[in-house]
Amino acid sequence: MNKPLNIAIAGLGTVGAGTLKVLRRNAGLIEARCGRKINVIAVSSRDKGKDRGVDVSGMKWVSSASDLVKMPEVDLVVETIGGVDGVARSLVESALNAGKHVVTANKALIAHHGLELAKIAEKSGAMLAYEAAVAGGVPIIKGLREGLAANRFHKVAGILNGTCNFILTSMWNKHQDFATVLAEAQRIGYAEADPAFDIDGIDTAHKLAIITSLAYGCLLNIDAVYVEGIRNISILDMEFADQLGYVIKLLGISTHTSEGVLQRVHPCMVAKMSTIGRVSDAYNAVIVEGDAVGQVTFEGKGAGEGATASSVVGDIIDIARGGIYKPFTIPVAALEKLPVATMDSLKASYYVRLAVVDKPGVLAAITSIFRDEGISMCSFLQNSRKPDETVQVVITTHETLELSMRNALKSIAALGSVIEPPHMIRIENL
Ligand code: NDP
Ligand code: HSE
Repeated sequence: MNKPLNIAIAGLGTVGAGTLKVLRRNAGLIEARCGRKINVIAVSSRDKGKDRGVDVSGMKWVSSASDLVKMPEVDLVVETIGGVDGVARSLVESALNAGKHVVTANKALIAHHGLELAKIAEKSGAMLAYEAAVAGGVPIIKGLREGLAANRFHKVAGILNGTCNFILTSMWNKHQDFATVLAEAQRIGYAEADPAFDIDGIDTAHKLAIITSLAYGCLLNIDAVYVEGIRNISILDMEFADQLGYVIKLLGISTHTSEGVLQRVHPCMVAKMSTIGRVSDAYNAVIVEGDAVGQVTFEGKGAGEGATASSVVGDIIDIARGGIYKPFTIPVAALEKLPVATMDSLKASYYVRLAVVDKPGVLAAITSIFRDEGISMCSFLQNSRKPDETVQVVITTHETLELSMRNALKSIAALGSVIEPPHMIRIENL
């Protein structure tokens, strides 16, 4: 039997404590699968007295996480503290510099500093593994890096945030309001420390930027991601979506075309019975399109203790078996700098909801703006007039240029008979 792998865990919250539980519960199986023992020899968190649902008495408690790197017997550091900078970043940097392997669930860190950290790992020969950073328990990183490594990819898309999918599903299925469902997602441990990262689409952007880099072999570019969150999604839009045969999902979509790489995060309408449309609650699904394999869908729980710990422990097992890869598969120096395609160049179908005064000529004014922008309408819905004579008008379009749609919405918003800013949701055929 090989010598045990000694690990230290920094951050004993949802993911860190979950990791300890899985390592303990499945210790025998894990040892058999990697041919060596995994020993957790030290842990670090802020509050030593906190009940974490797991016994930490047999491990060294280190009050300053950075001291874990100074322990010569530690082979691997698990970073489950979180945050783009601060303790998490300095811990990971110093561990890699010291030649210690790092397993992290921290997508914000990888999205912003992944390339610099990968360079350190490449130099020191340590592994920087981050399966848990994208889509919780879904093995999308390994899928892209290993099983599908033969492919040239041109599209990666999916539901990448469990909290948002949980919120959108519960708002529609259980008629719960946004704040109630968000509080439940926080209680279960799905949400980020600052849930604005989830609901404003930032967490999805972090994950999309990571898998975009892996899929296309290009430099990670978080600044190039177009981001809209789900704060403006209303039950009214969900009702109209339902009438049209759609559900609303927050998607991260990345495409690699001759115009460049377009990374976008925004709410989308997708067919109710489509692969993505059927994914509910905190589940994530990622669809990748490879030139050899065609379309492959990865689906599973995208957030929460068990699912995320499954990915963290999977990475630990990989390293215990000797699986040391370039963190971005290709050496950082060889990653391509691909051109960035703009949102204006997107061709999509659109749902537009307008609150209008119900009087003659209003629709003619709206449709003439669409005509002038070369936008072809696909369907039209109108609900009954309210006592104040306003109605909701819903138009869906055939595929058109985003730039034309934006111009049209600007002109429509300026019409005196349109009494709220237009509500626009893109329709995706996934
Ligand atoms: P939690 O807030 O539950 O846990 C964070 C932990 O870090 C806490 O135990 C906290 O200590 C500890 N901590 C904070 N500051 C320090 C410090 N200076 N030194 C040592 N420990 C510290 O977060 P999660 O477990 O949910 O998330 C952790 C990471 O995993 C984040 O990067 C997150 O994005 C990522 N992630 C989370 C998922 C989820 O479903 N929750 C899924 C995938 C990734 P204490 O408990 O003592 O206060
Ligand atoms: N807050 C994240 C989510 C955790 O809800 O998806 C998993 O990355």
